[in-house]
Amino acid sequence: MPEEELKVTKIRQGTVIDHIRPGLAPLVLKILNIGRGFPESVIVAMNVSSTKFGRKDIVKVENQILDEATINKIAIVSPQATINIIKDYQVVEKRQVVLPEELIGIIRCPNRNCITNSPENVPSWFHTVSRSPVKLRCHYCEELVEQDEIEIYEG
Ligand code: CTP
Ligand code: ZN
Repeated sequence: MPEEELKVTKIRQGTVIDHIRPGLAPLVLKILNIGRGFPESVIVAMNVSSTKFGRKDIVKVENQILDEATINKIAIVSPQATINIIKDYQVVEKRQVVLPEELIGIIRCPNRNCITNSPENVPSWFHTVSRSPVKLRCHYCEELVEQDEIEIYEG
């Protein structure tokens, strides 16, 4: 085990989101709605060394088994992330995130003239055009959004 991973304690129960793109753990927290008032302990490690990807971020959420729809939103910012479900200190399930076909109300359309940026409160709606690299298209104005341009709404 790489020395830096030893700095991050194991959890007894919960969900570990591993292999997050280095520096993007804060976006994962945003997607998971983890912030003020979140009731469980959360361990965040940024820029630790990884045997697979050089560097990575990790988010460990204690006592919560995140549902599939929530987990898959993580693919927006980190398509290579791995989800580990932990029970009694053991990894009982491991899977890759899969970017959903459609994303509603999660990402801001970069087109200032898009109806989703108007005062009409139309939720954003994107279709997945490509998963790797991530490319999304706005349902309304057809603007194409690439991985590095993605802006997630403030929760
Ligand atoms: N983990 C944890 N608490 C546990 C068990 C595992 O926080 N009780 C974390 C590990 O630190 C690691 C992730 O869950 O970040 C996956 O654990 P494991 O499958 O044991 O690690 P690897 O084999 O390195 O995983 P992968 O093959 O996905 O890289
Ligand atoms: Zn748009």
